Amino acid sequence: MPKKYSEWLAFAKDMAFEAGRIIQQAREESSFVRDYKSDHELVTSTDIAVDKYLCASIAEKYPSHLILSEESSPSLNLEARPSDKPVWVIDPIDGTVNFAHGHAHVAVSIGLFIGEERILGVVNAPFLNECFWALRGGGAFCNDKALRVSGGTDLRSALVATGFPYQKNALVPLVERVSRVLHQCQDIRRNGSAALDLCWVAAGRLDAYFETVKPWDMAAGVLIAEEAGAKVGYYEEQKNAWPKPINGNALLVSTPDLYDCFIEILKVNEFSYSN
Ligand code: IPD
Ligand code: CA
Ligand code: CA
Repeated sequence: MPKKYSEWLAFAKDMAFEAGRIIQQAREESSFVRDYKSDHELVTSTDIAVDKYLCASIAEKYPSHLILSEESSPSLNLEARPSDKPVWVIDPIDGTVNFAHGHAHVAVSIGLFIGEERILGVVNAPFLNECFWALRGGGAFCNDKALRVSGGTDLRSALVATGFPYQKNALVPLVERVSRVLHQCQDIRRNGSAALDLCWVAAGRLDAYFETVKPWDMAAGVLIAEEAGAKVGYYEEQKNAWPKPINGNALLVSTPDLYDCFIEILKVNEFSYSN
């Protein structure tokens, strides 16, 4: 593994801890304001402040790297990038609704990929004192503890997480999927942070997670789940243009033995819900 990868990981962890401190302080002092983007999507001044901090830190330390960040560069054009160019993918607060409502399930997510490969992922949950991280080929960790998926093989005992989109018109097929999961599995969780859902699959606290999410929600968490032994794939044919390592459309991450069962459960005919 190139030495620079470990240096990038150490740098990403330092940033994630500092970002966590900014988030904690904003909550302690109630010093943030709420706003809405793209219609009804909540964003706080702390999302913006953390995004600025992360982007400025990366630009200063690695000026030649690219940054895809939820709040300041969500539309970065990645098509013409050289195949060896490192791309940082950042969600300053994953779980903004939780953050604004005083819940603990909140994380900073920092991923990095090059070409077709996920290189590193750091997901720091400051209110839970847990920092999840992984380097390609080096395993996945929570703080200093190595992670392994649950090893679940029985669908009826599986605990599954998902999330609900801000766009209400995308809800109908999802409700059908949730109904199927509820009928066939143990239970479902909606924790409010996709990045942490992925890390919780890695930690064996969940057996599966599915959702359509954006690159910054999943770039770090998917590598962490993969490195802990999860199987990663998609329950729908892919039509969007995101590079493969950061494509969160119809994402399914589960224990290897349950993967095929979930593919079957989650296959609904989207066309019949489109009107
Ligand atoms: C959201 C969270 C949530 C997921 C949504 C995401 P945000 O991210 O990850 O769990 O269900 O799809 O948009 O808006 O809190 O960064
Ligand atoms: Ca997010
Ligand atoms: Ca966010």
